[in-house]
Amino acid sequence: MHVLSFFLRTCAVGQRTRLGLILLMVSIGISQSSLALSEPAGLVLEDSAIKTLAASCAACHGPHGNSVGSTPTLAGLNSSLFIQRMQGFKDGSVPATVMHRHAKGLREDEIAALAQYFAQQPRITPPALPKQPFKGGQ
Ligand code: HEC
Repeated sequence: MHVLSFFLRTCAVGQRTRLGLILLMVSIGISQSSLALSEPAGLVLEDSAIKTLAASCAACHGPHGNSVGSTPTLAGLNSSLFIQRMQGFKDGSVPATVMHRHAKGLREDEIAALAQYFAQQPRITPPALPKQPFKGGQ
Protein backbone atom coordinates (compact mmCIF):
# COMPACT_ATOMS: atom_id res chain seq x y z
CA MET A 1 0.00 0.00 0.00
CA HIS A 2 2.98 2.35 0.60
CA VAL A 3 3.61 2.36 -3.17
CA LEU A 4 0.10 3.67 -3.69
CA SER A 5 0.41 6.46 -1.11
CA PHE A 6 3.80 7.49 -2.57
CA PHE A 7 2.22 7.61 -6.01
CA LEU A 8 -0.70 9.71 -4.78
CA ARG A 9 1.54 12.16 -2.89
CA THR A 10 3.87 12.74 -5.83
CA CYS A 11 1.19 13.01 -8.48
CA ALA A 12 -0.68 16.28 -8.77
CA VAL A 13 -4.12 14.78 -9.39
CA GLY A 14 -7.51 15.90 -8.16
CA GLN A 15 -9.50 14.26 -5.35
CA ARG A 16 -11.89 12.57 -7.78
CA THR A 17 -9.07 11.07 -9.90
CA ARG A 18 -7.35 9.83 -6.75
CA LEU A 19 -10.51 8.05 -5.62
CA GLY A 20 -10.86 6.53 -9.10
CA LEU A 21 -7.26 5.30 -9.00
CA ILE A 22 -7.70 3.77 -5.57
CA LEU A 23 -10.87 1.95 -6.68
CA LEU A 24 -9.12 0.73 -9.84
CA MET A 25 -6.14 -0.63 -7.90
CA VAL A 26 -8.37 -2.29 -5.29
CA SER A 27 -10.49 -3.95 -7.98
CA ILE A 28 -7.37 -5.25 -9.77
CA GLY A 29 -6.25 -6.71 -6.46
CA ILE A 30 -9.62 -8.37 -5.87
CA SER A 31 -9.86 -9.85 -9.37
CA GLN A 32 -6.32 -11.26 -9.10
CA SER A 33 -6.97 -12.89 -5.73
CA SER A 34 -10.28 -14.43 -6.87
CA LEU A 35 -8.51 -15.84 -9.95
CA ALA A 36 -5.90 -17.44 -7.72
CA LEU A 37 -8.65 -19.02 -5.58
CA SER A 38 -10.49 -20.55 -8.53
CA GLU A 39 -7.43 -22.47 -9.75
CA PRO A 40 -6.03 -24.71 -7.01
CA ALA A 41 -2.71 -26.27 -8.06
CA GLY A 42 -2.93 -29.56 -9.93
CA LEU A 43 -6.70 -29.93 -9.76
CA VAL A 44 -8.31 -28.95 -13.05
CA LEU A 45 -11.63 -30.78 -12.72
CA GLU A 46 -14.58 -29.66 -10.59
CA ASP A 47 -14.70 -31.40 -7.21
CA SER A 48 -18.23 -32.72 -7.89
CA ALA A 49 -17.11 -34.16 -11.27
CA ILE A 50 -14.33 -36.18 -9.59
CA LYS A 51 -16.72 -37.49 -6.93
CA THR A 52 -19.18 -38.61 -9.62
CA LEU A 53 -16.37 -40.31 -11.54
CA ALA A 54 -15.04 -41.94 -8.36
CA ALA A 55 -18.53 -43.22 -7.50
CA SER A 56 -18.44 -45.32 -10.69
CA CYS A 57 -15.44 -47.19 -9.26
CA ALA A 58 -17.28 -48.01 -6.02
CA ALA A 59 -19.21 -50.92 -7.57
CA CYS A 60 -15.99 -52.94 -7.59
CA HIS A 61 -13.53 -51.03 -5.38
CA GLY A 62 -15.99 -50.33 -2.54
CA PRO A 63 -17.27 -47.08 -1.02
CA HIS A 64 -14.58 -44.35 -1.20
CA GLY A 65 -12.19 -46.97 -2.56
CA ASN A 66 -12.45 -49.30 0.44
CA SER A 67 -12.94 -52.71 -1.09
CA VAL A 68 -15.14 -55.23 0.66
CA GLY A 69 -14.10 -58.10 -1.60
CA SER A 70 -11.03 -59.23 -3.47
CA THR A 71 -10.82 -56.15 -5.75
CA PRO A 72 -7.84 -53.99 -4.72
CA THR A 73 -8.50 -51.18 -2.23
CA LEU A 74 -7.85 -47.73 -3.72
CA ALA A 75 -8.25 -45.68 -0.53
CA GLY A 76 -4.91 -44.27 0.62
CA LEU A 77 -3.11 -45.61 -2.46
CA ASN A 78 -0.02 -43.58 -3.39
CA SER A 79 -1.06 -41.23 -6.21
CA SER A 80 2.05 -41.88 -8.37
CA LEU A 81 1.48 -45.63 -8.12
CA PHE A 82 -2.19 -45.10 -9.00
CA ILE A 83 -1.25 -43.14 -12.16
CA GLN A 84 1.44 -45.70 -13.05
CA ARG A 85 -1.07 -48.58 -12.80
CA MET A 86 -3.71 -46.73 -14.82
CA GLN A 87 -1.20 -45.93 -17.59
CA GLY A 88 -0.10 -49.56 -17.53
CA PHE A 89 -3.72 -50.68 -17.97
CA LYS A 90 -4.06 -48.24 -20.87
CA ASP A 91 -0.97 -49.37 -22.78
CA GLY A 92 -1.40 -53.04 -21.87
CA SER A 93 1.85 -53.36 -19.86
CA VAL A 94 -0.13 -54.17 -16.67
CA PRO A 95 -2.28 -57.29 -17.08
CA ALA A 96 -5.97 -56.70 -16.41
CA THR A 97 -9.31 -58.45 -16.53
CA VAL A 98 -11.47 -55.31 -16.59
CA MET A 99 -9.31 -52.28 -15.82
CA HIS A 100 -7.87 -51.87 -19.33
CA ARG A 101 -11.37 -50.92 -20.51
CA HIS A 102 -11.95 -48.46 -17.65
CA ALA A 103 -8.52 -46.87 -18.02
CA LYS A 104 -8.89 -46.37 -21.77
CA GLY A 105 -12.06 -44.37 -21.19
CA LEU A 106 -10.36 -41.87 -18.87
CA ARG A 107 -8.38 -38.74 -19.81
CA GLU A 108 -4.99 -37.97 -18.24
CA ASP A 109 -6.43 -35.11 -16.15
CA GLU A 110 -9.26 -37.37 -14.92
CA ILE A 111 -6.75 -40.06 -13.90
CA ALA A 112 -4.64 -37.46 -12.07
CA ALA A 113 -7.70 -36.09 -10.25
CA LEU A 114 -8.87 -39.61 -9.33
CA ALA A 115 -5.37 -40.47 -8.07
CA GLN A 116 -5.46 -37.41 -5.82
CA TYR A 117 -9.01 -38.18 -4.65
CA PHE A 118 -8.33 -41.82 -3.71
CA ALA A 119 -4.98 -40.97 -2.06
CA GLN A 120 -6.90 -38.65 0.30
CA GLN A 121 -9.53 -41.25 1.30
CA PRO A 122 -8.97 -42.90 4.69
CA ARG A 123 -8.29 -46.62 4.51
CA ILE A 124 -10.95 -48.50 6.47
CA THR A 125 -10.77 -52.22 7.20
CA PRO A 126 -14.24 -53.55 6.41
CA PRO A 127 -16.00 -55.52 9.14
CA ALA A 128 -16.25 -59.26 8.52
CA LEU A 129 -19.39 -60.12 6.59
CA PRO A 130 -21.99 -62.13 8.50
CA LYS A 131 -22.36 -65.76 7.45
CA GLN A 132 -25.14 -66.08 4.90
CA PRO A 133 -26.59 -69.59 4.78
CA PHE A 134 -27.59 -70.65 1.30
CA LYS A 135 -31.35 -71.13 1.35
CA GLY A 136 -31.92 -71.75 -2.32
CA GLY A 137 -30.59 -75.33 -2.36
CA GLN A 138 -32.92 -78.15 -3.31
C1 HEC B 1 -16.04 -53.93 -12.92
C2 HEC B 1 -15.23 -53.78 -11.73
C3 HEC B 1 -14.30 -52.57 -11.65
C4 HEC B 1 -14.62 -51.24 -11.80
C5 HEC B 1 -15.99 -50.61 -12.09
C6 HEC B 1 -13.40 -50.50 -11.57
N1 HEC B 1 -12.36 -51.36 -11.30
FE1 HEC B 1 -10.41 -50.83 -10.92
N2 HEC B 1 -9.91 -52.81 -10.72
C7 HEC B 1 -10.79 -53.87 -10.89
C8 HEC B 1 -10.04 -55.13 -10.88
C9 HEC B 1 -10.64 -56.52 -11.02
C10 HEC B 1 -8.67 -54.77 -10.71
C11 HEC B 1 -7.45 -55.70 -10.76
C12 HEC B 1 -6.88 -55.62 -12.18
C13 HEC B 1 -7.80 -56.31 -13.22
O1 HEC B 1 -8.01 -57.52 -13.12
O2 HEC B 1 -8.30 -55.59 -14.12
C14 HEC B 1 -8.64 -53.31 -10.57
C15 HEC B 1 -7.48 -52.59 -10.34
C16 HEC B 1 -7.43 -51.22 -10.25
C17 HEC B 1 -6.25 -50.44 -9.94
C18 HEC B 1 -4.88 -51.01 -9.57
C19 HEC B 1 -4.80 -51.15 -8.08
C20 HEC B 1 -3.54 -51.81 -7.61
O3 HEC B 1 -3.31 -51.78 -6.38
O4 HEC B 1 -2.79 -52.35 -8.43
C21 HEC B 1 -6.59 -49.13 -9.99
C22 HEC B 1 -5.67 -47.93 -9.74
C23 HEC B 1 -8.00 -49.06 -10.32
N3 HEC B 1 -8.48 -50.35 -10.47
C24 HEC B 1 -8.71 -47.90 -10.47
C25 HEC B 1 -10.07 -47.84 -10.81
C26 HEC B 1 -10.79 -46.59 -11.00
C27 HEC B 1 -10.22 -45.22 -10.86
C28 HEC B 1 -12.08 -46.95 -11.34
C29 HEC B 1 -13.24 -46.03 -11.67
C30 HEC B 1 -13.03 -45.09 -12.74
C31 HEC B 1 -12.15 -48.40 -11.36
N4 HEC B 1 -10.91 -48.90 -11.03
C32 HEC B 1 -13.29 -49.12 -11.65
C33 HEC B 1 -12.16 -53.79 -11.06
C34 HEC B 1 -12.86 -52.63 -11.32
